Amino acid sequence: MADYDDNKIDTPFTLFNNETGKSFEIPVIKGTDGPDVLDIRKLYQDTGLFTYDPGFTSTASCDSSITYIDGKNGILRHRGYDINDLASKSDFLEVCYLLLHGDLPSSEDKRKFNEVISTHTMLHEQLVNLYRGFRRDAHPMAIMVGVVGALSAFYHDSTDFSDINQRMIACHRLIAKIPTIGAMAYKYSVGQPFVYPKNNLSYAENFLYMTFSVPTENFEISPKIVKAMDRFFILHADHEQNASTSTVRLAGSSGANPFACIAAGIASLWGPAHGGANEAVIKMLEEIGSVENIPIYIKKAKDNEDPFRLMGFGHRVYKNYDPRASVMKESAHEVLKELNKLDDPLFQLALELEKIALNDNYFIEKKLFPNVDFYSGIILKALGFPTSMFTVLFAIGRTVGWISQWKEMIEDPINKIGRPRQLYKGHNSREYQLESTREKKSIFKWLWK
Ligand code: ACO
Repeated sequence: MADYDDNKIDTPFTLFNNETGKSFEIPVIKGTDGPDVLDIRKLYQDTGLFTYDPGFTSTASCDSSITYIDGKNGILRHRGYDINDLASKSDFLEVCYLLLHGDLPSSEDKRKFNEVISTHTMLHEQLVNLYRGFRRDAHPMAIMVGVVGALSAFYHDSTDFSDINQRMIACHRLIAKIPTIGAMAYKYSVGQPFVYPKNNLSYAENFLYMTFSVPTENFEISPKIVKAMDRFFILHADHEQNASTSTVRLAGSSGANPFACIAAGIASLWGPAHGGANEAVIKMLEEIGSVENIPIYIKKAKDNEDPFRLMGFGHRVYKNYDPRASVMKESAHEVLKELNKLDDPLFQLALELEKIALNDNYFIEKKLFPNVDFYSGIILKALGFPTSMFTVLFAIGRTVGWISQWKEMIEDPINKIGRPRQLYKGHNSREYQLESTREKKSIFKWLWK
């Protein structure tokens, strides 16, 4: 994979320095699909220059064979398979197998994989006790970061990533335990007893069972709702080198254990510009309140002086309709129909908001379309999840992507510790003057008055 000799190397780019009259050739590497890349690995060594790319808008940080996105045409493929095919023909564990191993499983592989995952769904009982150390009103994502990080203190036999067997056990444990961890975070916040996993249920049904069942009553759920949950996980399974995945890779590049790396990914996902956006969409729709108020919020979103943005709109990579958003919209329709809630005011408001934004010049010119989060919150709310759980559900679906990307990185022969450089804009060297600095500059003056 990392052996570029197999890839056709095009005519190199030439950098010419007018001042020194020297030139430098930059090789171009071709991928299987998508833009070619300039190989700048020797740039600093040969020219003394760094590249400058805040937010990594033009930087490929690794090579990968897992996920391909064509943002201009709204295409998303995992291991070559279109997301629409996977969402309509596969189940989540099949997609997990595909991401981890590179191919769809045979029926025997699938049976074995399901069996392995279902035998790892329980948590160490001491880990269950850890929940009781959190405040009841803790955000479930805070609990997720803590409990997933703590897995490394419990499963010592799968933290040596140089051993292929330990690597695979860690992958299986994370995929299997993450729904249990998420469901327990919910149960803790509502003060209900933890519900232990039931391994005869499917992945999605087991999660819904651990989240919504109570020991006093029978638990029954419509297969359509289970399917919607499963599809939600598929649509979130992986998304190339986004912020949380890059966080997992960067943490893992130092040799950190996989549980710690996934905890870092969960922390990154929490932000409202990333996984927290589905929670923010519902808050925004509730704030807008009714169709008549939409123009006020569209105006706010377009105002550069106003920090308000239309949540669930826009994407760093998609400059077209996010293909996951169209499946999610369809799924929202199916779920609300199943629950007899098609007239749900938030859904109606979202449909209208989408229509107005898509016909507005600002959104057209900037190529801002609904992303995966725009309709997902509506589905989750209808299923009975509180908004604070939305990002947890995203994390459950994304865990397989994170761990597959981590595994790919560990197995890459050119795996190097991630260490970006910077454009320094601070002080030049200055004389050490403690007293005068304190008097003139201290921002803490008011503290020690
Ligand atoms: N509403 C209004 N204006 C927007 C929006 C939005 N949702 N998104 C982008 N813009 C504008 C920006 O203000 C900027 O305008 P300018 O050129 O006049 O400065 C222009 O469009 C380009 O936006 P950037 O912020 O430069 O785009 P970037 O790729 O950095 O950001 C992001 C992408 C963070 C997703 C952004 O579109 C956003 O904040 N959207 C809302 C939050 C959201 O839905 N996040 C979920 C992303 S999907 C995911 O993580 C699963």
